[in-house]
Amino acid sequence: MTSDYHHISVLGDEVIKYLQPQAGQNFIDCTLGGGGHTERILEETGPKGRVLAFELDQRAVEASRLRLKKYQNRLIIIQDSYVHLKEIAKRKDFKPIQGIVFDLGLSSDQLDRADRGFSFKDHGSLDMRFDEKSQTLKAEDIVLYWSKDDLLKIFREYGEVKQVERVAQGIVAWRETFLKQKQKKLKTSMFVSAILGILNIKESSLKRFRIHPATQIFQALRIAVNSELDNISKALPQAFDILEPGGRIAVISFHSLEDRIVKQYFKQMSLDCICPPESPICNCGNKPKVKIITKKSIKPSAQEISTNWRSRSAKLRVVEKIS
Ligand SMILES: C[S@@+](CC[C@H](N)C(=O)[O-])C[C@H]1O[C@@H](n2cnc3c(N)ncnc32)[C@H](O)[C@@H]1O
Repeated sequence: MTSDYHHISVLGDEVIKYLQPQAGQNFIDCTLGGGGHTERILEETGPKGRVLAFELDQRAVEASRLRLKKYQNRLIIIQDSYVHLKEIAKRKDFKPIQGIVFDLGLSSDQLDRADRGFSFKDHGSLDMRFDEKSQTLKAEDIVLYWSKDDLLKIFREYGEVKQVERVAQGIVAWRETFLKQKQKKLKTSMFVSAILGILNIKESSLKRFRIHPATQIFQALRIAVNSELDNISKALPQAFDILEPGGRIAVISFHSLEDRIVKQYFKQMSLDCICPPESPICNCGNKPKVKIITKKSIKPSAQEISTNWRSRSAKLRVVEKIS
């Protein structure tokens, strides 16, 4: 059996360098994808170290099972969201845990398969769910049925979309006509044409734009469909709770909204004083809970970017649990 799943892991060497996996240790991979990071960890932790891996996408789960077959005695793959990290690690009695990795966002496989609806370059239905079984809300439902205010909110918060009023108002007007037609399945290409129409941009002038005018709108829809920011905010404290002292959390993010959440959480957890700024002396008795290992985020080398262009926006941040 072969698999046509594809994804090149990002910052693989750096994840290993900072997580420092050793023989016999246990790790959690919250975003298994094609299994690249997990494979590297399993190589380092043999012959007895284990990995508990989370993944929502059925294709990724199947591809990783195949790729990592020889490690099956040391690998537990769970097809569920990492937002249930703590509960599932407990239920599986998976401990002690020396490190946890999150490689956020989506895989190349998801982006390149038209039927998943993530790419504005394709003609699949506007779907964008990581897991087509457990998730019911599709991007198409948001575009066609959410109120203008809700569209404004996600375009602002999750996409930092420019001309946001014009876009939300334009979509609400455009969809009235769309919904009157017999053809009710919304394709990515139709939606992109609608956005270009709303912004009065001709297909022929797209070359002028550094990034496609639909990029931020697609990002906002994807984040909303998959509750991506909510999930990472909920999972980081769980990761901290289940980690052994001295263990590390490594997070790779691909856009500023995710990176901000990670950076702020790590900073908050590293503070030795949490007194209000107006307090003349410190009396909070707080102790730092983590040590920040990467003072600045780690970015892919020029060489990595030259062989994997999609790695260019990746940022890795790492902390070590103190107590
Ligand atoms: C960038 S890829 C990970 C690639 C992987 N590190 C590798 O080396 O092949 C991100 C993966 O996270 C998965 N994912 C996103 N949100 C998730 C969640 N809440 N729980 C579990 N998996 C999730 C996506 O389906 C995708 O396959």
